[in-house]
Amino acid sequence: MDLQAVVDDIASALSERRGEGKVADYIPQLAKVDPKQFAITITTVDGQVFSAGDAETPFSIQSISKVFMLTLALGQAGETVWKRVGREPSGTAFNSIVQLEQEHGIPRNPFINAGAIVICDIVLGSYKPKEAIGEYVRFMRYLADDDMLTIDRAVAMSETATGSRNTALANFMRSFGNLHHDVAHVLGVYFHQCALAMTTRQLSRAGLFLAAQGADPISGYSVVSASRARRINALMLTCGHYDGSGDFAFHVGLPGKSGVGGGILAVAPGKASIAVWSPGLNKVGNSALGTLALEMLTNQTGWSVF
Ligand code: DON
Repeated sequence: MDLQAVVDDIASALSERRGEGKVADYIPQLAKVDPKQFAITITTVDGQVFSAGDAETPFSIQSISKVFMLTLALGQAGETVWKRVGREPSGTAFNSIVQLEQEHGIPRNPFINAGAIVICDIVLGSYKPKEAIGEYVRFMRYLADDDMLTIDRAVAMSETATGSRNTALANFMRSFGNLHHDVAHVLGVYFHQCALAMTTRQLSRAGLFLAAQGADPISGYSVVSASRARRINALMLTCGHYDGSGDFAFHVGLPGKSGVGGGILAVAPGKASIAVWSPGLNKVGNSALGTLALEMLTNQTGWSVF
């Protein structure tokens, strides 16, 4: 299969539609991003890279970071993570608080904001916030095989200034005893984690271990066990797009994680890691064209897991 032709085809089919959807504006810095950008990169498990569009332009990975922080938390705390966060789809928006009261401060899954904040608290462990952020950036540089990855401080500051909803979620969980560190410290880590800037090329490289049973197929090093990779993929499939997860599985049929920056990381197990980016979001806060691009991709390649 000519994967370069596939990505070129997708980029040209969507070129007329660039700018569709609505750019996230609740984080003021994200509202400034040019909505007409689009990028796609496929990195195959045998190390080939196929890109089209703005694949060298860094964007804010936002909630896609939750996959990597979950991986770190599982490495640090193992299965005890699941005492503090569930594994069920929420059926609610990414920043919803409604289930938290009924469910005693235990978030439904690690990908809604409440769950990701608990995951941050776990990764903080005995670190200082700066050390935890350093640990995360090192991990991301290692996975992306690129020492140039950096956090966009302007985005982190922008979200710190406007993050009342996340502050509420964190305080609420702390009142149930499910947040052990200082709220400001946990959120400091969380906002910086979300503000990591990556290109689709770097992101698809970083997700490759999930397509290759937990080992980086290029370096040969193990990142997580095969069963842990399977489970992370299962969570991405069922919870990675919040209340749009069912629809994403229906149309695309791959484990995926979206971010309000307009990126999506999708995993085709045994085949490839795919990153797409287009800033305009659909009604549930996931990249509109990014989702369409992935649907076209699975239609053309037959890579759906179903
Ligand atoms: O906490 C937030 O609201 C953002 N830093 C991340 C949310 C996000 O990416 C939702 N995904 N589509």
